[in-house]
Amino acid sequence: MNNYSPLENRYQSMPYKRSGRSGLQLPAISLGMWYNFGGVDPFENGRAIARRAFDMGVTHFDLANNYGPPPGSAEETFGRLMKLDFAPFRDELIISSKAGYDMWPGPYGEWGSRKYLLASLDQSLKRMGLEYVDIFYSHRFDPNTPLEETMGALDTAVRQGKALYVGISSYSPEDTRRAAEILRQLGTPCLIHQPSYNMFDRWIENGLLDVLDEQGLGCIVFSPLAQGQLTDRYLGGIPVGSRATKTERVWLTPDKVQHNITRIRKLNDLALRRGQKLSQMAIAWVLRKPQVTSALVGASSVPQLEQSLGALENLSFSQEELDAIETILKE
Ligand SMILES: NC(=O)c1ccc[n+]([C@@H]2O[C@H](COP(=O)([O-])OP(=O)(O)OC[C@H]3O[C@@H](n4cnc5c(N)ncnc54)[C@H](OP(=O)(O)O)[C@@H]3O)[C@@H](O)[C@H]2O)c1
Repeated sequence: MNNYSPLENRYQSMPYKRSGRSGLQLPAISLGMWYNFGGVDPFENGRAIARRAFDMGVTHFDLANNYGPPPGSAEETFGRLMKLDFAPFRDELIISSKAGYDMWPGPYGEWGSRKYLLASLDQSLKRMGLEYVDIFYSHRFDPNTPLEETMGALDTAVRQGKALYVGISSYSPEDTRRAAEILRQLGTPCLIHQPSYNMFDRWIENGLLDVLDEQGLGCIVFSPLAQGQLTDRYLGGIPVGSRATKTERVWLTPDKVQHNITRIRKLNDLALRRGQKLSQMAIAWVLRKPQVTSALVGASSVPQLEQSLGALENLSFSQEELDAIETILKE
């Protein structure tokens, strides 16, 4: 039974921006399902986050074959959400998935072969109960597979009607340029690049953003909150249940938080002086780059998501504020 009616005014406050030189507009803030939507997570909590997001104009949900845990379960959760809540709104949604990381045993269960990418997309569609995804990504560059093969598989996915657009994630500037050129020749222009970007991780400023401009690709940046470090989550210590305490995936550790905490406190003071939460300033900061189409956030609760969306109330920075951020980050 579908008893979800999204808010009538859901398109009134979210800015949408074209992805590169394509016709597709993405919301300034998108929601990722890497954490908090797995088989181990409470379904109703994820459901409430996804509904609230859509109510507030977040039209884009990002997934990958391996999100969970266990791997695949975030897509299964999303399939349930589609069935229960979002099926009538499929044409209002941009749903992405990816293949690249370890998904099943044997030589065909990871990286960038045609065999793996197309089999994985079929599995993802089945788990989500979808006929097509809006964006299908190569999740990582594969140094041992010809790039023509990986990009050829993305092109095939579009020609099969199983994806509308394609993207790449975490490719270097040089590999991005080559990938974009191959895809253009194949007649399936690359829509978007999905790299990490936040105040503590600025690799895309060293060449990638220029390539995206040159090639006309959009950019959706993941972990703009540095996985929760750029919020008030860790100001009073490491709370039980926070991402830094999760041991099944160790991307964020208490040591890492400890290493950054002095800068986090100073950035927090600066955000408060701007009349914003630190999370909101961190999101506004990634969106200040004209190449950035969307900030791809995660949330473990509805209030966290609402706080992130509050960033939209002040996206501008004075030169003094930007300089003050640079000074803190150099400390
Ligand atoms: N392409 C790739 O290789 C790749 C890699 C990583 C991520 N991604 C994508 O990017 C998405 C976002 O990544 P992310 O989850 O690392 O992004 P993030 O927005 O940097 O971190 C989200 C986490 O920060 C904490 N948080 C968020 N808002 C908060 C608030 N207001 N106050 C306190 N804590 C807050 C929560 O963690 P707690 O659990 O501590 O509450 C939340 O789960 C993923 O879901 C995925 O779609 C892609």
